[in-house]
Amino acid sequence: MGNISIKHYFKNNGSGGSDTSAHVDVEEEDEDFEPPKNRYARRQSVCAEAYNPDESDDEEENSVVYPKTDVQRKRLNEAVRNILLFKNLDQEQLNNVLDAMFERKTVADEHIIDQGDDGDNFYVIDRGIFDIYVKIDGVDKKVGAYNNKGSFGELALMYNTPRAATIVSNGEGIIWGLDRVTFRKIVLKAAYLKRKMHEALLEKVPMLKHLNEFERMNVADALESRQYNDGDVIIQQGEEGSSMFFIEKGEVSVKIKDDGGREVEVTCLNEGRYFGELALVTHKPRAASVYSKGSCKVAALDILAFERLLGSCMEVMKRNIGDYEEQLSKLGLSNRDLRGK
Ligand code: CMP
Repeated sequence: MGNISIKHYFKNNGSGGSDTSAHVDVEEEDEDFEPPKNRYARRQSVCAEAYNPDESDDEEENSVVYPKTDVQRKRLNEAVRNILLFKNLDQEQLNNVLDAMFERKTVADEHIIDQGDDGDNFYVIDRGIFDIYVKIDGVDKKVGAYNNKGSFGELALMYNTPRAATIVSNGEGIIWGLDRVTFRKIVLKAAYLKRKMHEALLEKVPMLKHLNEFERMNVADALESRQYNDGDVIIQQGEEGSSMFFIEKGEVSVKIKDDGGREVEVTCLNEGRYFGELALVTHKPRAASVYSKGSCKVAALDILAFERLLGSCMEVMKRNIGDYEEQLSKLGLSNRDLRGK
């Protein structure tokens, strides 16, 4: 099972709230995370399936602001830098979330969360080791630990379920809390809207038309939006490829160096088109450079997600290499080898 949404997982497995299927991508956030030895350890999508903005009861309440010193703010910024759920936030939303976060110092053996309790806060780790216990046959079993980074406590807030694990401070530590209301109102809403927006974008991409709704949703969850200004380099010819891109808004110019080293425009691409897949398909360096034309917004899919989620589109992408070769031959650059071994 790869990247899977909680809705489908529940449907397929009949699991309840204490199931371990909806974690924020711990592996991505935290290389030092010791993966639990159960299903929970696998990469999951950061989805907002249980969130329905039309039913949201949280809208009216204003978030609290916890004042912070410059040093605290710096530490907090550092702690949230790789939190996947926060990547959907624009600057204003992020500022509101950071304002609402509060510092909590923890001592050895302190229970931050107890399995079965109602969810109150989401936590981001500043420092310290936090052990994860899950009840197996009525007995608490250690299934993993967070090591100085990462986050926990999102499940109960996302799905309105009891806490799925117990989290215990292993020695002294510091965590940042975010209350349930602000988490749902800002973080979950942004994740939900991001998914909807990316699903709509992917529906416009002909190459993906044979993906089913579930597969498309998983690709949507894996996308990360990036904004570029006129002339910005999105891809540099000759570099190693680590992502492919779908154009959300605006235009890009694809340029290739001719034999004299001068850049020639090969093509322009606009909304709904994709680029950057070739190096991922052929495992060769980037065959062209791609520049933003005016301001543009793209959705990036990293190579691991690409391999995991777009395997079924590989043949279409390979067939498209023929079109690229044709473009090059029109420019007298047919000596380029675009294909891998
Ligand atoms: P939540 O259920 O709100 O509270 C406990 C948290 O522990 C949970 O969200 C996850 O963030 C985290 N967690 C880490 N490992 C596991 C696991 N194996 N099973 C369930 N929750 C886990």
